[in-house]
Amino acid sequence: MPRQFPDGFFWGAATASYQIEGAWQADGKGESIWDRFSHTPGKVKLGHTGDVACDSYHRFPEDIALLKEMGLTSYRFSIAWPRIQPTGRGAANRAGLDYYGRLVDALLAAGIRPFPTLYHWDLPQALEDDGGWPHRDLAGRFADYAEIVVRALGDRVKGWMIFNEPNIFTTMGYLLGIHAPGRRDPEAFLRATHVVNLAHGDAFRAMRAARGDLSIGTAFNMSAVEPASDSVADADAAERWHRFMNEWFLRPSLRGEYPEAHPKGLPESAMGIEAGDFARMRAPLDFVGINLYTRAIVKALPGDGGPLSLGVLPVGGVGGDAGPKTDFGWEVWPDALHQILVRISKDYDRPPIEITENGCSYADAPDARGVVDDTRRIAFYRGYLEAVHRAIADGADVRGYHAWSLLDNFEWAEGYEQRFGIVWVDFETGRRILKESGRWYGGVARANALPD
Ligand code: FCB
Repeated sequence: MPRQFPDGFFWGAATASYQIEGAWQADGKGESIWDRFSHTPGKVKLGHTGDVACDSYHRFPEDIALLKEMGLTSYRFSIAWPRIQPTGRGAANRAGLDYYGRLVDALLAAGIRPFPTLYHWDLPQALEDDGGWPHRDLAGRFADYAEIVVRALGDRVKGWMIFNEPNIFTTMGYLLGIHAPGRRDPEAFLRATHVVNLAHGDAFRAMRAARGDLSIGTAFNMSAVEPASDSVADADAAERWHRFMNEWFLRPSLRGEYPEAHPKGLPESAMGIEAGDFARMRAPLDFVGINLYTRAIVKALPGDGGPLSLGVLPVGGVGGDAGPKTDFGWEVWPDALHQILVRISKDYDRPPIEITENGCSYADAPDARGVVDDTRRIAFYRGYLEAVHRAIADGADVRGYHAWSLLDNFEWAEGYEQRFGIVWVDFETGRRILKESGRWYGGVARANALPD
């Protein structure tokens, strides 16, 4: 029997501005931290940059035609802050807003829900120069930007995400230095997480005040967490990891409090917490967006794990070895998605959930006939969609699913080496080819059911 999905379920694909748009200096756009980072030698594999990427800034009509060809009903994209405010402050750049206006109008004309994210990591460089996310002023600046965008597009766009993966951009950008802005500073990282939480609350209220009819969420990166053994120490470490990686931004927004992740209590002064902040970070989201790629198998480590561990991260390896690996080395483990959907539904009173990203990287290229026969990607989606279907049967209120990604694109520090698309892209010419996985996924979307 085909597994039917609920009526009105959204079938979508996701992208992000810096990963696909190119046109990094077009129409008054300012420099972002990813422009600066990718232009700095040694930061991105093979010296790749997003200067041209998929050139979606110019080719977005082709992207929309592909979505339409697959019969998809939702397109998750992101808005580049430095196109709207080149230095992160002051009046809006009309040309930048107009670009997203044209994109939105074209999606609506194609019968596809525009589903934008306000921040998918391309901070205006001028704001990083003033201190970046660890600097409290950024919360208010971000809320100003959110208000500008919602006032310009909110008449036509009803579903919004504030942030993409706050845990990843703070960890990778300020703690590990693997992503822009490339800082390795535990204290700056902790402060950044708190400022992002404040910005979340401020932006939510600014958006609500600007328009009362929006559905507002955030795309949180989550991993299902399992202890490496039956020991009490591993179980404790696993629970701390869940709270720190999965709930550090969710609980502040939905509950106005931090999860208890640190064994010695919340490091309030290191985080720069001030009176009134807990109320300020509340953002009663209309839906919870979940991006899921991995499970985490967590092991307690002796000692405190050193300065980068923050007293909460001494937990050892991430990922398992039981499932096949994608080209990125990430384990294919569909049950992780079922587990996290069920846990979040239980712990947060069954919120509406959108799966905002899920996908895999495989390098399959066109054969002599121009066909990209990416059977491993089809197997991946089949497995994870079965897990979503099972979670819905178990009570999770899942409203939509977005494949990461519509297009092969600039995969951050990995450059163009990791191909996540259901559409293959020739980065020399910009040519697009729908992969076999895209055809298969389109069939699922049109039937609103997963075939046997
Ligand atoms: C997520 C990001 C997305 C993409 C995928 C593979 O963490 O949100 O931009 O890079 O991973």
